[in-house]
Amino acid sequence: MAKQIQIAIDGPAGAGKSTIAKIVAEKLNFTYIDTGAMYRAVTHKAMQLGIQLDDSEALEKMLHATKIELEPSINGQLVYVDGVNVSEVIRSNEVTANVSQVAAHANIREVLVAMQQQLAADGAVVMDGRDIATHVLTNAELKVFMSASVEERARRRYLDNERRGIQSSIERLQEEIALRDKLDSEREASPLIQAADAVYLDTTNLTIDEAAEAILKLAYDVM
Ligand code: DC
Repeated sequence: MAKQIQIAIDGPAGAGKSTIAKIVAEKLNFTYIDTGAMYRAVTHKAMQLGIQLDDSEALEKMLHATKIELEPSINGQLVYVDGVNVSEVIRSNEVTANVSQVAAHANIREVLVAMQQQLAADGAVVMDGRDIATHVLTNAELKVFMSASVEERARRRYLDNERRGIQSSIERLQEEIALRDKLDSEREASPLIQAADAVYLDTTNLTIDEAAEAILKLAYDVM
């Protein structure tokens, strides 16, 4: 029988992580966990409550009084905050623009990382994020660092927004992605970096299926 391994997928915004991770999880019959959704859920609730996003103590207090639940569904992972389905609203431009600020707080990361480790404790997971290989699942059997050019990532985000009925401009998206890359990779707490033992996968010229296939091949090698 195939081993119940942990697969960690990290990389910048728009590299295709969630789409590809979801396919890999489905093919292996593993659970897919999108950790970015957890940072987004915290950001969304804080914005709703009018909590200052630079106030790490207030955010932590709020987080301790918050129930975040992830539920797999045929349409991908659903996210509930205090029992309310926020899966769509956490993808809004407002949340996207503010989430890096929240994700930069070490105390918030500590709480969410502990939750993520618990969710992955039994293995058979594909988890995507920014620090999965370096902090969350440091013993993962397979670690992949996925990236693509800023231009290609902006193009993908544009099409994704279009599907969701969100208007955007490619130029704006490029600027936003470049800024988010900078914030995520230069922050002090768990910056986005490739783990020494991660495989680098450039998806700029790969289709979704080709990228998923490449990861599945690597997974079968360690199973
Ligand atoms: O993957 P995403 O765009 O949904 O991620 C949202 C934000 O959360 C992104 O700015 C980086 C941050 N993030 C993080 O710091 N660590 C993770 N494990 C996942 C996401």
